[in-house]
Amino acid sequence: MNTWILVYDGFDPKGEGLREALCTLGNGRFATRGATPDGEVRTPGTYAAGCYDRIDSFVAGRTVTNEDIVNLPDWLPLTFATPDGDWFAPERADLLAYRHVLDLRHGVLTRKLRWRDDAGRVTAVRQRRLVSMADPYLAAMQTTFTAENWSGPLRVRSMLDGRVANDGVARYRDLRGDHLTCHDTGTQDDITWLTAITRCSRITIALAGRIDAPGRPCVLHREADNITCEHVLDVSRGRPAVLTKTVALATSRDHASHDARSAALRHVRRAPPFDDLLARHAAAWERLWQCARLDVGGAELSRIVHLHIFHLLQTLSPHTADLDAGVPARGLHGEAYRGHVFWDELFVQPWLSLRFPEISLGLLRYRWRRLPEARDAAREAGYGGAMFPWQSGSDGREETQILHLNPQSGRWLPDHSHLQRHVGLAIAYNVWQHYLATGSMPPWCAELLLDIARFFASMAVRHGDRYEIRGVMGPDEYHDRYPGAAVPGVDNNAYTNVMTAWLLLRARETARLAPDLVPDRAELERWDEIGSCLRVDFHDGVISQFSGYADLEELDWHRYRGVRRLDRALEADGDDVNRYKASKQADTLMLCYLLTGDELTGILRGLGYPVEPGLLPRTISYYLERTSHGSTLSAVVHAWVLSRANRAQSWRFFTEALHSDIKDVQGGTTAEGIHLGAMGGTLDLLQRCYLGLELRRDGLRLDPLLPGRLGLLSMPIRFRGRQLFIDADHRQARVNGVACRSYRGGEAIMTGTGDLGRRIIHHRERLGLTREEVAERADMSPGYLTYLEEHPDMPDTGALYRLADALRTTAEELLGGGRERPPGHGPAMANPTMEVLDEEECLRLIGPGGIGRVAFNGSHGPTVLPVNYKMHEGAIVFRTAAGGPMDRDLRTGLEGVDIKIAFEVDLFDETNREGWSVLVQGPVHHVPEEEVPEVTRAGVTPWAGGERHLYIRIACQQITGRRIHGL
Ligand code: BGC
Repeated sequence: MNTWILVYDGFDPKGEGLREALCTLGNGRFATRGATPDGEVRTPGTYAAGCYDRIDSFVAGRTVTNEDIVNLPDWLPLTFATPDGDWFAPERADLLAYRHVLDLRHGVLTRKLRWRDDAGRVTAVRQRRLVSMADPYLAAMQTTFTAENWSGPLRVRSMLDGRVANDGVARYRDLRGDHLTCHDTGTQDDITWLTAITRCSRITIALAGRIDAPGRPCVLHREADNITCEHVLDVSRGRPAVLTKTVALATSRDHASHDARSAALRHVRRAPPFDDLLARHAAAWERLWQCARLDVGGAELSRIVHLHIFHLLQTLSPHTADLDAGVPARGLHGEAYRGHVFWDELFVQPWLSLRFPEISLGLLRYRWRRLPEARDAAREAGYGGAMFPWQSGSDGREETQILHLNPQSGRWLPDHSHLQRHVGLAIAYNVWQHYLATGSMPPWCAELLLDIARFFASMAVRHGDRYEIRGVMGPDEYHDRYPGAAVPGVDNNAYTNVMTAWLLLRARETARLAPDLVPDRAELERWDEIGSCLRVDFHDGVISQFSGYADLEELDWHRYRGVRRLDRALEADGDDVNRYKASKQADTLMLCYLLTGDELTGILRGLGYPVEPGLLPRTISYYLERTSHGSTLSAVVHAWVLSRANRAQSWRFFTEALHSDIKDVQGGTTAEGIHLGAMGGTLDLLQRCYLGLELRRDGLRLDPLLPGRLGLLSMPIRFRGRQLFIDADHRQARVNGVACRSYRGGEAIMTGTGDLGRRIIHHRERLGLTREEVAERADMSPGYLTYLEEHPDMPDTGALYRLADALRTTAEELLGGGRERPPGHGPAMANPTMEVLDEEECLRLIGPGGIGRVAFNGSHGPTVLPVNYKMHEGAIVFRTAAGGPMDRDLRTGLEGVDIKIAFEVDLFDETNREGWSVLVQGPVHHVPEEEVPEVTRAGVTPWAGGERHLYIRIACQQITGRRIHGL
């Protein structure tokens, strides 16, 4: 199985929504669903990070206002027709073949089809599409037509279409979605353009499109809200004809722009031809994968891990860091949850912080920019500090809907989920994780964490001898009130209260890191007091989800077996889920997800509660039996909390979380957008849970307990400015190849020192790179690299690792460690690919010459010896001593009778566990004397020195080779 592709064979109208969502292409600035460019069975969607609009609708007798991520004009439409035929549409066409292939490694979606028209003409179409990761304004689609049994004119119609609305989610269709107004279209030279303005936020959107095609000039058709151009390609039987549509998408939110329309025109005009655009795009992805790589054992698992990383980076890429955008719960892949930002970043950011800290910092900045709004919200609600909204969009005000539709009963119901104040705890948790991962706490991050702490402290009110937080909702959205109560909210949600105690401890530490922000003594003392006596309830020997939970009734689980959305099912039955001990998703168990067992018991003890033996395992199984997993996040959390106690069950939950989207486990929700939290959560599970990677103030700790099926786990991470390679199997974890359980900042995992400069030069020359190129790859100045090459000095550890990476070697090797060791330490990579090389590639690899090994039957038995060799006129030449043992062994003494020998060259890339080997077999001869002067010019210099005047030549009769690689 190729773990880098997702394939959809055939045209399945019912499955199109799911395929479109999973085949979305994006670059962190905007994304386009994998809708077909033709036909009617399509839900096109293009969404730009942070591009929202609000609109009023009238439902259930009320006016409600919703803010949506706006579905932008559609750049995809393109169809074609054979002479006198209808425009191609997959749902009507006589399809002979139809296949979509998503290349996860390079971010390319390919559609291949063959269709027969009514006149029996067969045409093959290959369409490749990308949304550029290199130039975040650009997208392109190249279509290659091959007329298989005919010649003649083929019409191609391409359009920029502004007639789109937010109508991708069926249950929102009673709400208005016509966000685009003031459409305009036009052309400039050979470029078409379309602009529109969002109704309320007044964001201008501009698309500019360029068609590169041979043949006659196009015919234009212009309406106010769409613009079409029609080309005629003169196709000849068997000869491919290519048409490329390149578009630029600009908005008035962009930086470095005068106006959206001229920006789009300028971007598309300077866009390179498709092949160059593709090469740059693929190279940008390659760079991302170098940091994002996460290898696991098992092909299917590996494919899903690739899929999750791919969609995560399409939603949140280095381009997002600069955009003032948050983590949309459903990616930029669909309209569910209206592109809103919930607490899902809690499941996504820990993975990003250890690989792309700049993206993670950008996401924190999205929150920080909305701090004034959150402060106002807290003040208006009678609290201090900053109260972040449960659902956030453009400006940080509360975007949670006030009514939601129960599709099962058809009723619009009040929605109180804005009471999930715990979203602030997720933000603070991410600030802290970012600090532990990077070692840096910018003052504004400290400000964010401190203001959130202030808010939770101000919600805590003394009742008797305990502080209580009343009137909230926990992550379990089934309990928004006590049964029959008039006022929504529950009291002392254990997750909220324990995490508040955790936060107040972190706030104290944060205050020490940001001296300008230190709260006054009275405030600190109040935090200490709250942090030592917040209320947590217990019942039946377990932690109670909230005060009064014990009094709820048990649900008849038998009756509702397999129902994930109990809230909807019960409401449709005239009942209320609030009455029951039933959870939508992990709530109390979130504590075991975010805190280590020691941290959690430490906090409970600090609050003055005795921690009875077995409290946590009992609590885990108690809630496990009472959870319907109505959110994809639930499986992630349960896989985590069971990872040590019940590994088989943990694996089952992990598998479910992995399948959330690829198998659409919730039956239809993925078509409305991927579940980014679950995708990020599975990746975080691999690193922080199964690998046991724990970030601590004094370094990182590894405590792997890999599920049996995982086999092997390896990943590069970025920890406090250093690039580390971590891998683990069932026995141990290694950091940069050295077994260890903990790694402290500054600790150099390497042995011995050597002549660093000489080795840098050696590796640089081995790779054929200039100083400038190496310096750029290692993110250092060429001047400093020259200095390191020429002076006996040592860079700091971070620079050393970057340099080793740039030179495709290890820091240890650069320092001279491991010199006497045979190559090939550490395990193989997960899912290695063994590629058989053709002769041309083998010759290319051995072409530069170097050291190879000759193998022959020597007088003392089979012998293998290294020789310095060069290629000369297609043969291998090396030198040996005339009359020496090798000379003797390789002579038959008979004219015309050859000895056939083997010659092998190989290369190991230890860092990446990649390598190749080439085997040459052929007869061996002395180079005749008259040819020696010419062969000498090849310049073979044996390392062994001495008298080696005899030139030997191996004729390359048979050449074979293999390459092992992962990425
Ligand atoms: C879950 C929330 C989540 C939201 C967005 C809801 O179904 O209950 O925890 O934040 O989806 O993913």
